[in-house]
Amino acid sequence: MKKYILGIESSCDDTSLSVVDSDLNVISLKTVSQTSVHTVFGGVIPEIAARNHIAWIMPTIDHALKESGLSPEDISAVAVTNFPGLVGSLLVGVAAAKGLAIGWNKPLIGVNHLDAHIASSFLDRKERPEKPYLSLVVSGGHTSVIEVTERGQTVLGETMDDAAGEAFDKVAKMADLGYPGGPVIDKLAKKGDTSKYKLPYLLKSNNKYKDDVVFSFSGIKSAVKRVLEEGNVDMESLMAAFQDRIVELIDRKLKLVLSGKKYKAIVVSGGVSANSGVREMVSKLAEKFDMELFLPQLKYCQDNGAMVAASAFEKLNNNEFSDMDLDVSPTVRCRK
Ligand code: KG4
Ligand code: ZN
Repeated sequence: MKKYILGIESSCDDTSLSVVDSDLNVISLKTVSQTSVHTVFGGVIPEIAARNHIAWIMPTIDHALKESGLSPEDISAVAVTNFPGLVGSLLVGVAAAKGLAIGWNKPLIGVNHLDAHIASSFLDRKERPEKPYLSLVVSGGHTSVIEVTERGQTVLGETMDDAAGEAFDKVAKMADLGYPGGPVIDKLAKKGDTSKYKLPYLLKSNNKYKDDVVFSFSGIKSAVKRVLEEGNVDMESLMAAFQDRIVELIDRKLKLVLSGKKYKAIVVSGGVSANSGVREMVSKLAEKFDMELFLPQLKYCQDNGAMVAASAFEKLNNNEFSDMDLDVSPTVRCRK
């Protein structure tokens, strides 16, 4: 018999609720985005984000449940992102999840936001990747290359400074293109000439990290800043060159991993997995290294409650539930 999980996502600025079934089909999904609020500031203001979650969480829960056509009795568990993220934002989702779990007498499942992004690639899709598989999570908060085996996850590489999405957002802010930066830059880049601006390659042959799976995006920001300061900018071409360098770096680092080990599948997720350059690059990579590619549908790339519910099914099947003192954490290290 099918089971259903209600998933709550509030780790940043999206209040998102979803009901997902045990085949990982999305039954209902409601996301209230705060983008228009934070655009004014050119980035997310944590206190405002938390306050807006307070205002929207109950109506969003009601909406998602109604739209699913199910009643609380049909729900097997309440899942919620409890780390990593903005603490005030996470607390709102976790408090709401605890209230529902107690009120409905259902188990509570705390979810790692990165696991949830990985699971977004399996939503509304029958196939699952064979383990061990390679996973790339590229979002506003993370640029992580992870190996997923039967025994768990190993982080193979991470960013030393900004996350990929953060670099998109910061460059867009410098260029006055609005927030979030990724979608605007992606759109502009499509019309630009990548070779017009000679931005530095992010991975020089003399770079001490050239053989390590580490990312660094701060240098490219400074390079874009210098071009902007010179004035008279062809924005489409500058953004095309910027995006090209980011994609090139991710490509090089993934190839570094793949040169040492073979994987049957690659799972790419996170907000930046919506980027057209990233999608094209990983499609080519999957073909070259003969891997099955798992990419979320565009509508599931950004933070959403469906991925939270999807990633909780493994814990539900193993009866791994959270206690009512479930805590939140801003980082990937969490007590529970
Ligand atoms: O996964 P997500 O919704 O939130 C985090 O967990 O961080 O990712 C948001 C990030 C933002 O930095 C946004 O600029 C970026 O994803 N993003 C993109 C695109 N769409 C969203 N970056 C590049 N190209 C895009 N098309
Ligand atoms: Zn995210």
